[in-house]
Amino acid sequence: TRLKLFVTRQLPRDVCDAVPADVSLAMYEHEKQAIPREELLARVAGARGIVTMLTERIDEEVMNAAGPQLAVISTMSVGFEHIDRGAAAQRGIVVCHTPDVLTETTADLVFALLLATARQLPQAERALREGQWGTWQPFQFLGTDVHGKTIGLLGMGGIAQAVARRARGFGMRILYWSRSRKSDVEETLGVTYSDLTTLLQASDFVVPLLPGGDATRHLIDQHALSRMKRNAMLINASRGSVVDEDALLQALQTRAIAGAGLDVFAREPIALTHPLLREERVVLLPHIGSATLETRTSMARRALENALLVMRGEAPFDRV
Ligand code: GLV
Ligand code: GLV
Repeated sequence: TRLKLFVTRQLPRDVCDAVPADVSLAMYEHEKQAIPREELLARVAGARGIVTMLTERIDEEVMNAAGPQLAVISTMSVGFEHIDRGAAAQRGIVVCHTPDVLTETTADLVFALLLATARQLPQAERALREGQWGTWQPFQFLGTDVHGKTIGLLGMGGIAQAVARRARGFGMRILYWSRSRKSDVEETLGVTYSDLTTLLQASDFVVPLLPGGDATRHLIDQHALSRMKRNAMLINASRGSVVDEDALLQALQTRAIAGAGLDVFAREPIALTHPLLREERVVLLPHIGSATLETRTSMARRALENALLVMRGEAPFDRV
């Protein structure tokens, strides 16, 4: 009998063409909505492999619903905190993700968000559309310079390194903090290691580029925000859980910091009633870090390939 692969979201047809004839492909046939929990539990039954997204929580219940033949859980994302790795390990299930293919694309978005926040691009564009561009004004839509400023990167993984290369092009001074110091990167990219407190105090742009999960939860809390400069901005396209959102809101409301650019939130999608949406100094994006046609297509391909390799008994490209 053919091995079953279940995909939790509709993927492009040409990506799915890579699935060989000896694999039976079952897919949730919607692109714009996440699979309801009950349907997920029902439809994974008998699967040898599951390809999933950030929108699904893959826990013991899902693994049990799939059955003991489940060999691989492959997510179309670099983050994997939505997958219970302990439960997977106990059952000998391989967990895969899609790093590398999204690194440069995500770094582009981080920098775009930084520039947009510094120069208030969305606010200026909204004003134009609303007819508030009465005349060129010498002191309207005043942002803050990016070139020559100090960027503080939290973490020094692939995406942080790619952001550092972009920051170099803008003539920025680059500080970083991470749990493991990376001397090779310090030399090749011209970045300076700093303890967390010094980084927060010295940076004009504080940019967390850390994975989610317990180890990084609320790293940017009220205490950390209080160390930042009053004219500094927080740029977060990593995980919402890294920032204490209530503390951030308060820091913005009291002008303890000058602004924030956010692509990720504690709860996604963020509620339209959330007070962050009423803050004028904030740029908000709907988790689009890796969202280019090229990269999302590569991620979908890679997630499928990883699953198919494990299902065939081979080593995947990107085992967690
Ligand atoms: C996006 O946030 C990802 O983890 O790929
Ligand atoms: C701006 O467009 C200028 O000419 O200063």
